[in-house]
Amino acid sequence: MLVLGIETSCDETGIALYHTERGLLCHTLYSQVGLHAEYGGVVPELASRDHIRRVLPLIREALGQSGHTLHDLDAVAYTQGPGLAGALLVGASVGCALAFALNIAVIGVHHLEGHLLSPLLSQTPPTFPFVALLVSGGHTQLMRVSGVGDYELLGETVDDAAGEAFDKTAKLLGLGYPGGPRLSALARDGRPGRFRLPRPMLHSGDLNFSFSGLKTAVLTLVNGRTPEPQDRADIARAFQEAMVEVLAAKALAALKQTGLGQLVVAGGVGANRQLREGLSDQARQLGARVFYPELEFCTDNGAMIAFAGAMRLGHRSAPDWRFTVRPRWDLERLAAAEWPPPLPFSRRP
Ligand code: KG4
Ligand code: ZN
Repeated sequence: MLVLGIETSCDETGIALYHTERGLLCHTLYSQVGLHAEYGGVVPELASRDHIRRVLPLIREALGQSGHTLHDLDAVAYTQGPGLAGALLVGASVGCALAFALNIAVIGVHHLEGHLLSPLLSQTPPTFPFVALLVSGGHTQLMRVSGVGDYELLGETVDDAAGEAFDKTAKLLGLGYPGGPRLSALARDGRPGRFRLPRPMLHSGDLNFSFSGLKTAVLTLVNGRTPEPQDRADIARAFQEAMVEVLAAKALAALKQTGLGQLVVAGGVGANRQLREGLSDQARQLGARVFYPELEFCTDNGAMIAFAGAMRLGHRSAPDWRFTVRPRWDLERLAAAEWPPPLPFSRRP
């Protein structure tokens, strides 16, 4: 089965072709970073309009690269949510229209499920069950993943998401957008021990997180001024150390609590090198393994949507005709049985 994946939930247009026997055939991505940079963050209306411009050329490019035509497709998977409503609507309308015209299956994929399953695209994938640490711009969650669609929430942030904390702190340091990777690069020049920031909820005894206090602590340090370059680097380092320590401690606690030996790290913050190193070291001491998606599949992309769609193809039983997006959508409520079944989108006679 050949599945076209379309991701348009935020500021990246991602397109991919995944074949259930041959694996990932190709993926293409257009990042809107340049478009939003001057505004210091994503402007939803600009994001939607740009997805409209990019989505069809990227689909043509992906088909051309893999030597396929639209008529070879067996299904279309698009990101149905969560995300920006207008941006989601672009992928949803193109995905549903294509499936309708071609009379093939269409699947609305949960964006976080895409992230969660993305390590399975690696050469050495984890096997179910595993613990997943989902760290993106909008979410920070620890999940027990027992199979496709079988997710149990173990803990989550009570305020800011990890990526959001990186982005807001980067803004305080005058680093602009996108903040996470810039802050992380700057932290490399920071000196250890110069500043000590709090480790929120480290000893809370549960698997929840809180990051808004950490950002406030940086705000207090900065005190309304743009710090000198070395101070900025030292603060960035202190911030990243605090983030990594809390994320790693809770992820390891989740492994202990569930008794599982595999940890999957997914979402944009999973690209953070310090987090990867910190987690791998600590997990090794526990005799556990950590799995990361390839760097290009950590941040938003079409491959994870095509892949999650392909996994979902086998889980359906009755037709579903809804055309919808879900800007807010709990991953935990995504039980396998709840899922819209495969079409084909049969046309009226
Ligand atoms: O998963 P993602 O691409 O989009 C969402 O679904 O939110 O995650 C984006 C987030 C942003 O907050 C970005 O700053 C953060 O991931 N991020 C990083 C790094 N690369 C991306 N944070 C820290 N270090 C990085 N290297
Ligand atoms: Zn994402």
